Amino acid sequence: MRASESRGSCPRANTATRVEHPPRAFEQIPKRHYASLKQNTGLKIGRLRGREGFAMSATRDTLTITDNRTGKQYEVPVKDGTIRAMDLRQIKAGEEDFGLMTYDPAFMNTASCKSTITYIDGDRGILEYRGYPIEQLAEQSNYLEVAYLLLHGELPTEKQLADWRWNITHHTFINENIKKVLDGFHHSAHPMGMFEAMVAALSTFYPEAKNIEDAACRRKQIHRLIAKVPTIAAFAFRHRIGLPYSYPDNDLSYEGNFLNMMFKTTELKYQPNPVLERALSVLFILHADHEQNCSTNAMRSIGSAHTDPYSALAGAAAALYGPLHGGANEAVLRMLNEIGSVERVPEYVRRVKAGEFKLMGFGHRVYKNYDPRATIIKQIAYEVFDVTGKDPLLDLALELERIALEDEYFVKRKLYPNVDFYSGIIYRAMRFPVDMFPVLFAIPRTSGWLAQWVELLEDPEQKIARPRQIYLGRRTRDYVAMKQRDGAAAGQAAGAGGEA
Ligand code: CMC
Repeated sequence: MRASESRGSCPRANTATRVEHPPRAFEQIPKRHYASLKQNTGLKIGRLRGREGFAMSATRDTLTITDNRTGKQYEVPVKDGTIRAMDLRQIKAGEEDFGLMTYDPAFMNTASCKSTITYIDGDRGILEYRGYPIEQLAEQSNYLEVAYLLLHGELPTEKQLADWRWNITHHTFINENIKKVLDGFHHSAHPMGMFEAMVAALSTFYPEAKNIEDAACRRKQIHRLIAKVPTIAAFAFRHRIGLPYSYPDNDLSYEGNFLNMMFKTTELKYQPNPVLERALSVLFILHADHEQNCSTNAMRSIGSAHTDPYSALAGAAAALYGPLHGGANEAVLRMLNEIGSVERVPEYVRRVKAGEFKLMGFGHRVYKNYDPRATIIKQIAYEVFDVTGKDPLLDLALELERIALEDEYFVKRKLYPNVDFYSGIIYRAMRFPVDMFPVLFAIPRTSGWLAQWVELLEDPEQKIARPRQIYLGRRTRDYVAMKQRDGAAAGQAAGAGGEA
């Protein structure tokens, strides 16, 4: 298996064994025994050498660790290219020692779960949902079918899809009291803040959602959440601009209905433009899941405390809101507006390289190649522009991309456009205001968050998420009365992170 972020981890518990002697890497085995050894043990036979000409190295799926503090050796299993962190706990420098831990801020090299939902090969720019390449799904599927796939593991039959659609379509309305919650927000409130608050508020309307062990109850909340997030998003937008709410139209598709709730004005029946409806479906497919990113990690972390899915999803949406994550699409548009013209691109890139700020919509923790989602978005941009007219910011974005991709700074760091670089330009052409962009990310990501949440709850190896820390602060000391405190010393201690 390739070294990949999607690779599984976590060999079985307590499988590590301490070896008193050097590991048995070389065995003296007569040649005639090779075949049966290979067959019976699954060992990989290495090079030949040694006495009688038949010694050989035998490789095992283990890792041998020598602790130079004690001289002891340990052998721990390697499974799916991973060692289990708990296998290191037995490695101690002395009786009182807690045992070895790993230190991995930002989870740069730690798998937190096993998953079968989304596969990413960041070096080769590959993204698959349940094994289906994102390019095929974007071309042939639609968002609701992909949401079903993410949650159920397989594409639906005709009947399953019809039932799924029915269930989603018939949960699109929100309780009228939710509107009163919305009315409490200022008209200048950011729609993402309203979205988070309203999703969290839903948990008070469906208290039974706490029964997270009950699969049928979970399904009901999944239908409700996928159905209601577009309604909440559209209502937040209309509250923002002071328009009356446009209620869901169950005759329309998921995407068409969202456009109806966003943009319907005086017409009796809203008719979505089929090109824009389809473009929105593709954008929703591309944003539906992306394995263990910041917001999904938040969903899993909150969910691991057995919190109800509405509260957990509100937390995930809050993580998504950040400009380094789903808020980047909004930041890209603000950046392009700030640059203003193609002539000013080189100067802007110079300032990025000088470390003044980051080029928003560029770079990714996982992709060290062109983000496959950005490639697809760039293609559909032209279809949207045929309907809406070309957005002048496109030329600016193309020039920015061209210059950045030729520049050594970006080449060396493998920084390519990500999903957020072009999505905002399309959303703007479709008349979505800039501050709705993160909300447009949250709507489809809801299905991915929920799929990951269910997988977490059904995984017997998962427990409440609880990282360890390396404590570097002061230890037990006596309380100092106010009169005896030395201000300078206290300030110094705080500034030094408690090291003083
Ligand atoms: N512009 C300029 N330099 C960058 C950028 C950028 N956008 N991204 C990374 N770098 C540099 C960074 O300064 C560092 O340089 P050096 O090695 O000299 O210190 C190097 O590239 C490695 O970057 P990093 O910060 O260690 O990478 P990371 O994996 O921690 O961060 C990232 C990934 C996405 C947060 C980051 O690339 C970034 O801030 N990009 C801009 C925000 C953005 O577009 N976010 C959307 C991500 S895709 C959608 C999503 O996940 O929601």
